[in-house]
Amino acid sequence: MRILELNNEPITEILSETLGDGGKREFRTIEVLQGIVDYLPEEIDALVCTSDLQGMEVKKYSDENKDRRLLGIAIANELKELTDCGLLPPKEKFGVIFCGDFHFEEDFSSRGGFGEVDEVWLAFKNISKWVVGVAGNHDKFSLNENGEYSISEEKDIFLLDRKTQIIDGLNFSGISGLIGNSQKPWRTQEEQYLAALKSMLLKKPEVVLLHEPPKIGGMKGNQKIGDVIVKSSQSLVICGHSFWENPLLNLDNGSQVLNVNSRVVILLNKQ
Ligand SMILES: [Fe+2]
Repeated sequence: MRILELNNEPITEILSETLGDGGKREFRTIEVLQGIVDYLPEEIDALVCTSDLQGMEVKKYSDENKDRRLLGIAIANELKELTDCGLLPPKEKFGVIFCGDFHFEEDFSSRGGFGEVDEVWLAFKNISKWVVGVAGNHDKFSLNENGEYSISEEKDIFLLDRKTQIIDGLNFSGISGLIGNSQKPWRTQEEQYLAALKSMLLKKPEVVLLHEPPKIGGMKGNQKIGDVIVKSSQSLVICGHSFWENPLLNLDNGSQVLNVNSRVVILLNKQ
């Protein structure tokens, strides 16, 4: 799959409240961008890609009586409105791609932390046909009595970690979390991580999902991940974790890297 164009002019913007550098409360705009891809199967007309929605919604006057929701849940609701007004296909005609990090401490005590994000995944599933994604380093998932992720029991929700999933004929491969040796959640040792990435890319999936971005072309990310992508055959990699001013990188080997940190990117099928 290739992104043929990405319009940097947002179709809409959603205001959020979050913590900035230094832990200061600040307002931040989440842009919804639209792009065109060369191919989607006939089962779907769009893919909605997002990650790193770490913040709280900013209450509208009309919502005064409602509790403030996590940003991801509020955005799922806003996207439903885009469907209602025809800017997004009906829910049975689009899939959602997650690149992780939807947790935020609701009392604004810290920007990081580690907390449950099942509700965000379910909110997006409610407005779409399916959700496929990787976990971010701040994402916790509730467990069932067998110690497995409850979210993985949900129909049409696919959490990937060094795993491949075919949905509507599209092959998605994903690695959750970050490269790291620590005992912190969602860390994979460098050797294992890079071996998994190489073997995924060899199989030429339509989309590779990573939480950790590659460092390529001066963009913030991991150098080793960048080296693997540059040396592999053509691919479309979608990632998050670090914010990129310019979300789309076109590489010399024909590969593309789309970073959806603090953005929503709607990819529509070529007409
Ligand atoms: Fe992250």
